[in-house]
Amino acid sequence: PGSSPEELLSIAVRVAREAAATARRMRDEAIGDVQTKSTDTDVVTAADKAVERQVVETLRAERPGDTVLGEEYGGAEAAPGTVRWVVDPIDGTVNYLYGLPQYAVSLAAEVDGEVLAGVVRNAATGDEWTATRGGGAWRDGRRLTCSTETVLGQALIGTGFGYDPLRRAHQGRVFAQMITRVRDIRRFGAASLDLCLAAEGKLDAFFEKGLNPWDHAAGGLIAAEAGMVVAGLNGVPAGPEMVLLAPPALFPALHDLLAELDAAGGP
Ligand code: IPD
Repeated sequence: PGSSPEELLSIAVRVAREAAATARRMRDEAIGDVQTKSTDTDVVTAADKAVERQVVETLRAERPGDTVLGEEYGGAEAAPGTVRWVVDPIDGTVNYLYGLPQYAVSLAAEVDGEVLAGVVRNAATGDEWTATRGGGAWRDGRRLTCSTETVLGQALIGTGFGYDPLRRAHQGRVFAQMITRVRDIRRFGAASLDLCLAAEGKLDAFFEKGLNPWDHAAGGLIAAEAGMVVAGLNGVPAGPEMVLLAPPALFPALHDLLAELDAAGGP
């Protein structure tokens, strides 16, 4: 099977649509068991597991040489030069549990750590964002461009909170400081969708500490292809320590404020 970004995207879109249909159907019929994972606030439903299993089985059958990394079942490292699929079967699981229409399937294809194609599909609404490396970010046939905001005090910023209570306390302190310096802050509850909202200019910027690769692999490419700078703090690439994205002219001011607040300590 071919591995051009376009070929990978067309597989990703088909698999994500099937996955979103399963998530939606289970939401309408029966979510199944609800369990907690890392902490009491970190929930997983039978649907998260069923959707991931479906994605893994489809990709394994169609592309036996690839590997898959998923939120619920983990996965192996990929051999150099091979494709690794990175999947969040239901990003926004708490929204899913409560029936809030902000949960998504996120699926990315990467080679040697570089994301080549990604799709995020809001399973509740059917909205879908896609990107290929170098090929732009798209929604419903429309090419996306991010915000052109340059002033931090006028920026609408998205963020999220992890499940670990110590991490949350730190994130709360950063939030409390930042909220006085920006237009406002939004917390919608599904990082992949936040990144897509940023890609289409509905958020000026986004940051979150402690995201996992499946939360930001696809959305990060979509935001970058829409013109955003996607990075971590102090020259580190976007990763577990921080995912920060902003339009180029806004990035330095947000980066410096966040670096200062984040350095105030905490996990
Ligand atoms: C979570 C959501 C949330 C973010 C958390 C993630 P999950 O993913 O993306 O917005 O703040 O850090 O863990 O658990 O719903 O797949």
